[in-house]
Amino acid sequence: MSAASADAPGRQPRLVKFRAMTPGDVAAVGALERAAYPFPWSEGIFRDCIRVGYLCRVAELDGQVVAYGIVAMGAGEAHILNLCVRDDLRSRGVGRQMLALLLERTREAGVGEAFLEVRPTNGLAISLYQSFGFVQVGLRRGYYQAAQGREDALVLKLALADPAGTDSSP
Ligand SMILES: CC(C)(COP(=O)(O)OP(=O)(O)OC[C@H]1O[C@@H](n2cnc3c(N)ncnc32)[C@H](O)[C@@H]1OP(=O)(O)O)[C@@H](O)C(=O)NCCC(=O)NCCS
Repeated sequence: MSAASADAPGRQPRLVKFRAMTPGDVAAVGALERAAYPFPWSEGIFRDCIRVGYLCRVAELDGQVVAYGIVAMGAGEAHILNLCVRDDLRSRGVGRQMLALLLERTREAGVGEAFLEVRPTNGLAISLYQSFGFVQVGLRRGYYQAAQGREDALVLKLALADPAGTDSSP
C-alpha cells in the first residue's frame, strides 16, 4: 500500500492510502461516481471490472474511499477507463498520485502504451494527463452522452518505457 497527504495549506496532515479495490468498496465507489458524472457507470460495471481482473485501485482517507482508478490491460496496451477524486479533495494531488500509481503498475506489467478518452471540455483532467506526457492521437465523434445529444472524446496516448530487455539501444 502507498500513501500521500491530501492537505489543504495550513491544515493538519491527513494521510491518503492507496490499495486494491474490493467488491466491498463498490457501494462507496458508485456514490463517488454518481456525484462526479452526469452519466455515471453503474455499480455492476465496477463489480465486473474487479471480476475480470482489471487494475482497480482506491484511495482511502480516514477510512473512507475518496478516489478510484480503473485500467484495462491487454495486447501490450493499457486503457485508463476511469479516474475520479471526491470533489472536496480535488486539486490536492490525489488524482496525480493515483494516476502515477496506475501507470507504475502498467509499466511493471510490461505494457508499452497507455490510452484514454477525455471530454474536450474537461480542461483540468487534460492538463493532468498532459503533465504525464499524454498526447492527443485521435478524436472519437459523439463518444459521450451529453445533456444535449452527444459529446466528442479526445483520445490521448502515453508511450511507456520499453519493457526490460526489449530496448534495442546500445
Ligand atoms: C480529473 C481529476 C481526477 C484530477 O484529480 P485531482 O486530485 O483533482 O488532481 P490533482 O490535484 O492531482 O492535480 C493534477 C493536475 O491537474 C491540474 N489541476 C488540478 N486542479 C486544478 C485547478 N484547480 N485548476 C487548474 N488545473 C488544476 C493541474 O495540472 C494539476 O497539476 P499540478 O499538481 O502540477 O498542479 C479530478 O478532478 C476528478 O475526479 N474530476 C472528476 C472526474 C473526471 O473528470 N475524471 C477524469 C475523466 S477522463
